[in-house]
Amino acid sequence: MLAEVTGNSASPTALSSTASAASQQREWAGKRLSPTIGFELQDVSIAAKFTEDDIASLRRLLGKHKVLVFRDQGDLTPAAHVAFARRFGPLEVHPIIAHHPDHPELVTFVHNSDSRGIENVFHSDTSFYPEPSMGSILRCAECPEVGGDTIFVNMVAAYEALSPTIKDRIADLSAMHDASVVFGNRQPTKEGRDELRKQIPAVEHPVVRTHPETGEKILFVNETFTTHFANYRQVNNGVWNQDAPAQARDLFTHLMRQARTPEFQVRIQWQRDTVVFWDNRAVQHYAISDYHPHTRSMMRATIVGDRPR
Ligand code: SIN
Repeated sequence: MLAEVTGNSASPTALSSTASAASQQREWAGKRLSPTIGFELQDVSIAAKFTEDDIASLRRLLGKHKVLVFRDQGDLTPAAHVAFARRFGPLEVHPIIAHHPDHPELVTFVHNSDSRGIENVFHSDTSFYPEPSMGSILRCAECPEVGGDTIFVNMVAAYEALSPTIKDRIADLSAMHDASVVFGNRQPTKEGRDELRKQIPAVEHPVVRTHPETGEKILFVNETFTTHFANYRQVNNGVWNQDAPAQARDLFTHLMRQARTPEFQVRIQWQRDTVVFWDNRAVQHYAISDYHPHTRSMMRATIVGDRPR
């Protein structure tokens, strides 16, 4: 077991030297879940009252480990789920995915014998918005006896593992993110698809973004919503290079594949009332769809984020 102290400084010793800093410390008992990503907290009820310092401290813990796991949250009502998520910022109301009847801020993912899980593609939530989500808090209401795990990927580690040549090549690139890739395909009519594109136009984001709190660089492209580079240029001696489109595709595919690398991942096994909070700016996820025809029922609150830079 590990006790995490999260204060304003990286050094707990420095913090304990002043009374005001000491008041901002909180120890979170728990264990790391992989060398790269994930921390499971012990004996924390997120339905409990947290001070502002606790929330700031949880925010830092999230920045450090990127995925926080809370088990046995049986006392977390949907209202308390929303209330906890709101402590981290305003919440999104998803324009398409079904939501809880009393809480539009809680999207629901329910799969059973009539519906196979479809969230089994690596993605970062709402990357198609100008301000994609900062984080998501997902609760398991019901899960199969085995299966239905979720994989989370540390996209800071994915960026750091790239070669210097590729890091240079992508430093100033941006890419398009488009909700239509997934949600357009669920629209049966062209009018419906046109309307969706009007409602949620494709958006351009840097391929490498900087985390606003940790300062880390993040590879910010995902297989679900990112469609192509927006500004790939390949000019030799002032002449347009005919190979550029093919080179762009190769590089794009190479970047997409990074999320599939097991060394950057953690795989969470759900139990009823497990809650997982992930930093959506630095993490991608993939819900394994291997449990059909059993029931898996989840609820997610999604916190509004900032514009990637
Ligand atoms: C999601 O894509 O946010 C759902 C993840 C899951 O159901 O594990």
